[in-house]
Amino acid sequence: MPLMTTKPMFDLAYGGGFAVGAFNVNNMEITQGIIEAAAAESSPLILQISKGARKYANMIYLRHIINAAVEQYPSLPIAIHLDHGDTVDLVQTCINDGFTSVMIDGSHHPYEENIAVTKKATDLAHANGVVVEAELGMLGGIEEDVVGLDAAEYEKNIEKFLTDPQQAVDFSKRTGIDSLAVAIGTSHGAYKFKHEAKLAFNRIEQIMKTCPGLPLVMHGSSSVPQEFIDLVNKYGGKMPNAKGVPEDQINMAVTKYGVCKVNIDTDLRLALTAKIREVFATKPAEFDPRNYLGPGREAIIGMVRRKMHVLNSAGKADAVNKHWEKLGKPMPKYYVKK
Ligand code: G3H
Ligand code: 13P
Ligand code: ZN
Repeated sequence: MPLMTTKPMFDLAYGGGFAVGAFNVNNMEITQGIIEAAAAESSPLILQISKGARKYANMIYLRHIINAAVEQYPSLPIAIHLDHGDTVDLVQTCINDGFTSVMIDGSHHPYEENIAVTKKATDLAHANGVVVEAELGMLGGIEEDVVGLDAAEYEKNIEKFLTDPQQAVDFSKRTGIDSLAVAIGTSHGAYKFKHEAKLAFNRIEQIMKTCPGLPLVMHGSSSVPQEFIDLVNKYGGKMPNAKGVPEDQINMAVTKYGVCKVNIDTDLRLALTAKIREVFATKPAEFDPRNYLGPGREAIIGMVRRKMHVLNSAGKADAVNKHWEKLGKPMPKYYVKK
């Protein structure tokens, strides 16, 4: 059962010209859509769960849904990751829940406080065989549990918010993290840019130079494809001026600049919502949830398959499994004890 940490994945992604997609799960249909896509593309994958997802779905349900996915596709390399963990207590809870990877996001704290909370979380996670992602710099955008800056303010002051390459070395050395989420011009949500959509590629390049060997993570990486915005708006939605990171820039960040993990949530929400809106608008008599959630799930499969090509992770599942075996099939303590 290749449930694993992200280490075997990032070992190959680093310098390997691909990134592993980390997709947010909130319910059964979303999880099934993601897993079906990964199976169809033979791609490694990270299923990530936010504090908001835990609150919405109840971790007992999410755990069983994820276990079902792992059981259905036992040869898919899958990591279960906490997205934007904000406290050491939450990290501990997720370790107890069987997560193989956690994020501790102290980026909104002053620098020394970010180091202190990240170091605590990292020591705890490592003692349990779990890997850690942390964040340095500031992302824009507003999500329920992830509050950033609005697009206009972010773009105006962008230099001030980007991850500092020198600080990144100090941060990673003093905390012992396994991967680092960097601010390089992306934001959370569907309204990422007021003006031109542009990533700070030179910043990724500088951080890769100052922190060799450290896998970099890009949050806020949805592309908000125009055809989905058009569908939403056509069928009664209201998402004017939505704008994401163009897929060619995501692909470049991965294949040319070496980003190893790419976080996507908004595009899944968009695919599901656009499809459900279409069913409601074109079949107003429909009231069987299976007949709108089903097409919504299909839309998620299509969206995630598309991402796996943008990230160049399609076809990499076997190689990751072999590498995991070569490493001695490392598993967090939770699974070893079980
Ligand atoms: O980065 C945030 C993710 O999109 C999760 O969002 O906190 O609304 O679950 P959420
Ligand atoms: P998007 O809002 O661009 O999908 O980003 C999701 C994310 O970063 C989750 O951590
Ligand atoms: Zn994020």
